[in-house]
Amino acid sequence: MQDEKVLPEASKKVFIKTWGCQMNVYDSTRMQDALEQDGYAQTDDMADADLVLLNTCHIREKAAEKVYSNLGRIRALKKQRAETGRPMTIGVTGCVAQAEGEEIMRREKAVDLVVGPQTYHRLPDIVARARTDGPQIDTEYAVEDKFAYMPLARKKQVQARGVTAFLTVQEGCDKFCTFCVVPYTRGAEVSRPHAQIIEEARSLVDAGVREITLLGQNVNAWHGLGPKGVEMRLGELLFDLAGIRGVERLRYVTSHPKDMDDGLIAAHGELDCLMPYLHLPVQAGSDKILKAMNRSHTASEYLDIIGRVRAVRPDIAISGDMIVGFPGETDEDFEATMDIVRATDYAQCYSFKYSMRPGTPGAEMHNQVPEAIKTERLARLKNLLTQQQAAFNESCIGKVIDVLLEKPGREANQLIGRSPWLQSVVVDRGLGNIGDTVRVKVITNNPNSLLAEPV
Ligand code: SAH
Ligand code: SF4
Ligand code: F3S
Repeated sequence: MQDEKVLPEASKKVFIKTWGCQMNVYDSTRMQDALEQDGYAQTDDMADADLVLLNTCHIREKAAEKVYSNLGRIRALKKQRAETGRPMTIGVTGCVAQAEGEEIMRREKAVDLVVGPQTYHRLPDIVARARTDGPQIDTEYAVEDKFAYMPLARKKQVQARGVTAFLTVQEGCDKFCTFCVVPYTRGAEVSRPHAQIIEEARSLVDAGVREITLLGQNVNAWHGLGPKGVEMRLGELLFDLAGIRGVERLRYVTSHPKDMDDGLIAAHGELDCLMPYLHLPVQAGSDKILKAMNRSHTASEYLDIIGRVRAVRPDIAISGDMIVGFPGETDEDFEATMDIVRATDYAQCYSFKYSMRPGTPGAEMHNQVPEAIKTERLARLKNLLTQQQAAFNESCIGKVIDVLLEKPGREANQLIGRSPWLQSVVVDRGLGNIGDTVRVKVITNNPNSLLAEPV
């Protein structure tokens, strides 16, 4: 583990705004750590920052457009600041940076740097150059391993971030679903080496983290050589992480059905610290649409996986993602989506209207679905998913569960923690300290949380 370094006196401030998936959240923390070594303190006040970074998401049109509306406002701020003699540097990072590159600077002159997700280890240098030499852009897919050049989580920082942490183990995607930009914005599938993951997990636990969520665009595609030089997959990596003293809970997200192998399914039956929660998106229920999406499995294959996971871990909560209105989706295809949702019985599930993304095969398809139909289908689907989620939460009432205490509650006498199934659980402060796992009985189900009492 890297020793705690003496950092340079923070003379500048950085503000980072993050959109998108958990991987962007993780990346923002890593960028913060790297910039901190370069003398940047974190601030929550954008107006007071010397460096403003927008860590962006390109997954749907709405997500990408948010960047430009934000930049418009920041431009005015930058102008004010220039007059005070303390200039502000503006950077765009993340998936919009990778997808649009120079176009961002053409559209918004206030931007000083554009950096894609694969070159974050160069960020401190790029920022320094932008401040002295003018606009910088770096959207290469770097050949070196960026993680090897970035500092590990430090105690003070982790304590400020809480007892749960993300850890990226795999990045990028080779699956090329026809609706999705991720293979273009994050590049090819790469797994981080086993030893590097174990080292980072140890450093997190040493800093007080109790729950680690492994991240990857296809986290279950992770593979690598173990300490004995033998090829391993995610199920085996989970066993090694579970063996680290202090790791109480493990989770992983997001998985692809194609990579849900027997070893990983078995791990759910054998590892107590692997939480009974599986995010396994299917996107649609019609085999015709699944094929057009290039998901490379059928609806019944998906249901078979769910059945096998439930067989080894009956209390597992299944979560997912659904897209309505993919090109060519008929009423009948949409009914198949409703059917697979009924058959899976989700504890929680996200649903989206299909959004045309530049450069993807889906955007070239001629049979696009009208907006009004997408709206209507999404409403019906959301209605069903809301019912399923409510039923799942209801089913928890009366159960005795373990809750990892994470933060103070809204009332002074309360703490908030998480159930094994990721629900927020409110308990009495007297029950324990943040970082403790306590056994409680669920007594009621509020709209956004469960309420529990000592057993
Ligand atoms: N790797 C994951 C998904 C990552 S993207 C997987 O294979 O399941 C997160 C979610 O965004 C996807 O599951 C999908 O439901 C949604 N999404 C991706 N592209 C989209 C698009 N063009 N329109 C609407 N939703 C999209
Ligand atoms: Fe996108 Fe498909 Fe890759 Fe998931 S598996 S990131 S949906 S291309
Ligand atoms: Fe968005 Fe990029 Fe994540 S497009 S969902 S931030 S991988």
